[in-house]
Amino acid sequence: MDTPHTNAPILQVEDLRVSFHTYAGEVKAVRGVSLELHEGEALAIVGESGCGKSVTAKAIMGLIHGKNTEIKPGSRILYHGENILEYNARQMRHYKGGECAIVFQDALASLNPTMRVGRQIMENLMIHKGMDRAEAAREAVRMLGLVGIPDPEKRVREYPHQFSGGMRQRVMIAIAFACAPRMLICDEPTTALDVTIQEQILELIRDLQRIHHTAVILITHDLGVVANMAQRVMVMYSGVVVECGSCEDIFYRPRHPYTWALIRSVPRLDLENKQALSNIPGAPPDLLNPPAGCPFCTRCDYCMDICREQMPAVTHFGKGHEAACWLHHPMAPHVDMPDLEAEQ
Ligand SMILES: Nc1ncnc2c1ncn2[C@@H]1O[C@H](COP(=O)(O)OP(=O)(O)OP(=O)(O)O)[C@@H](O)[C@H]1O
Ligand code: SF4
Ligand SMILES: [Mg+2]
Repeated sequence: MDTPHTNAPILQVEDLRVSFHTYAGEVKAVRGVSLELHEGEALAIVGESGCGKSVTAKAIMGLIHGKNTEIKPGSRILYHGENILEYNARQMRHYKGGECAIVFQDALASLNPTMRVGRQIMENLMIHKGMDRAEAAREAVRMLGLVGIPDPEKRVREYPHQFSGGMRQRVMIAIAFACAPRMLICDEPTTALDVTIQEQILELIRDLQRIHHTAVILITHDLGVVANMAQRVMVMYSGVVVECGSCEDIFYRPRHPYTWALIRSVPRLDLENKQALSNIPGAPPDLLNPPAGCPFCTRCDYCMDICREQMPAVTHFGKGHEAACWLHHPMAPHVDMPDLEAEQ
């Protein structure tokens, strides 16, 4: 991918393909995703429900396994140049616990209900940072305080169910940040929370990102959050990347009809905007039997014959901005970007 960065990326995903083998057939959930992430940068992944955001995130975290799950040959997830798909168990433990961390929407499901939260923070520190018990215990208290949990000395001894939703999410972030990960994936970390707590959690992620230069992948339905948090945006549709670029390029100079539809679905893209992506008429394709051509062809106002037959090539517009759409082929009819604000 053509990005404006000069330093080597911390993460390169190349042609990631993930399928689930179900009774109904092969669900092709991720169909050739490539991306790059650099130190200290925040990349947002957007796209409607079921487009493959979480499966991509889980694959990057080494959390896609199981007998009905297949990461297709040729897929590569390079962390500092090493393919994590070829890691042995020891390397994978180090990667998952020490190098990268994930915060899910549902903290209750991700925390161990039978273990005190302090202990959950300490485990990672003892395993991955070589701290002794006393050191790790002090650090657990410090981390809970850092994520804004009042009275951390007392609360380290409590269990996850004794925390409110917002406080549990903070515990997850404390666990995720305890080892100062180089890479943090936040999969809708604030969706279930009220607006004030959402703000505080996002501020926390930003602060900690500043302190540790952590690279962040942020999955969210909220384009206001994207504008606030991310430098780059990747737009997914039906298991593929349809457009990728800086926030400015995606919000003000989008090149893909699906991105146009996404942006049209929110009234304003300034920092105050808290609207979620609204529905676009029609349904995404069936992942059991995706179309041979452009996945957006059934809902696209500009669909041409070739769109139904062949997957569009990626066109590069400079500074890492790229889109996969036949409209950018030199022989395609000229189509101006619609006036997205005037149409609301
Ligand atoms: N274990 C599984 N078995 C079968 N299909 C699966 C499995 N996990 C995910 N899928 C399918 O893969 C596709 C992508 O799922 P994914 O969870 O990545 O979507 P998403 O973009 O994160 O959506 P949302 O915004 O709703 O979280 C969906 O069609 C989903 O039904
Ligand atoms: S390739 Fe064709 S169908 Fe797909 S988004 Fe572009 S114009 Fe629409
Ligand atoms: Mg998801």
